Amino acid sequence: MLPSKFIFRTLRSSSVVRTQVNRNVAFKLQESLQTRHPHITAASRNISLSSNHHIPNTPITKKANLTGRSEVTEGTVNLKTVEVTFGDKSRSLYPHVWLRENCQCPQCFNKDAIARLYLVDDLDLNIQPVDIQLDDGGIRLTWSDGHEGFYSGEWLHQRAFNDKGRREQRSNFALSQAYWGSDFKVPEMDFKACMEKDEKLLKWLIKLEKYGVVLITDAPAKVGPVTDFINRIGFVKPTHYGSDYEIITQVVPNNLAYTGSKLGLHTDLPYIDFPPGTTWLHCIRQHEGKGGDNGLSDGFHAAQLLKERDRFHYDILTTTPIYFQDKGFHNYDFHKIARVPTILLDEEGNTNRINISSQSRDSIMDLDPERVMHFYKAIKIFNNILREISILVKTKPGDILVIDNMRVLHSRTEFDPKTSRGPRHLHNAYIDWSELRSKRRVLQEKFSMPLD
Ligand SMILES: [Fe+2]
Ligand SMILES: [Zn+2]
Repeated sequence: MLPSKFIFRTLRSSSVVRTQVNRNVAFKLQESLQTRHPHITAASRNISLSSNHHIPNTPITKKANLTGRSEVTEGTVNLKTVEVTFGDKSRSLYPHVWLRENCQCPQCFNKDAIARLYLVDDLDLNIQPVDIQLDDGGIRLTWSDGHEGFYSGEWLHQRAFNDKGRREQRSNFALSQAYWGSDFKVPEMDFKACMEKDEKLLKWLIKLEKYGVVLITDAPAKVGPVTDFINRIGFVKPTHYGSDYEIITQVVPNNLAYTGSKLGLHTDLPYIDFPPGTTWLHCIRQHEGKGGDNGLSDGFHAAQLLKERDRFHYDILTTTPIYFQDKGFHNYDFHKIARVPTILLDEEGNTNRINISSQSRDSIMDLDPERVMHFYKAIKIFNNILREISILVKTKPGDILVIDNMRVLHSRTEFDPKTSRGPRHLHNAYIDWSELRSKRRVLQEKFSMPLD
């Protein structure tokens, strides 16, 4: 409980409070004070109204005797929010402006298109409900401009602004990831089972999202199953290499991939603006002698370790933009260039994507020479961590290795093509995370599976 002196000072100076934390405190205090002392907040209200409806000075509370998990049992119109209590005892505040924009009536929302009709053009930031009714497990609001809208309990519950609600919304967007290290064993699932049963495919999708790599086993060892599997989920992501492509060891190769050379830990296609979300490597024929293994390393885990161990060089990799390039002919003449940091963060500082490829990192750098030296030290330290937590997998004919290309790096150990009876042969394709997560959500809804 805060001393009352602080409360009144906060209320008086709420318009000049500088930090977000203080703003939230002031907002909550205003809301709770209005509930307990309506005369204080009614006096501090500064809202211009353009309607004939009378705005009540005191909070309006309605109750209903319901028990369903997401049925509304109590609804209160506060100064800036509507507070709702559900049958499962959870509560949430809903800002008035949000409720008005998200009115579910046919005039404001097209339920067939699942699209909002109500435009920001028409939004009055100061709009307020003048009445609330608990109806059919949900709430019915009458607005100060005379508009009326109904919100079902289930709809509100799914959009709760409380911690649990927001956690669930986040899981629906993207499942939480489990980081792994050198003791990790790649999860395996059977090709035929995933192709035939939606439950199996859902399990497979969840594993891929969680670990960033899954091995599909016992697919036919020929060209085709990779794109069959991808087409079961959504669309292949095409690149200048086509919708899918083969890597067959060549006697006179025109690309490093077609040789037996060692390939360092890398992500695929960092030289395009939106690299493919996942890389699929289907083994049709494996190199029979020593080598040809795939190294795998959890780049998000490595980024976390680098941040803990060496903050300076972590910051270098998150803030130094690097050019990647690819130039040549394949289907058409191409010259791709992208400029991105090695560790790409989202707006909350979480790792969003790793961009590493010794093969295609450009020698043109557009940086101060001193920054170049810092970059080399940072990439060397990061590479050592990636190696420290990496694993080796040697696929056999019929295996499809599916790798999260945003997160997990892959490599290939050196092999001598002359020591194998036939050439190493892979069939590869890509699909984006939008498609994979979309399919996961569709199947989770089909099987009513709880999130996380
Ligand atoms: Fe690759
Ligand atoms: Zn409406």
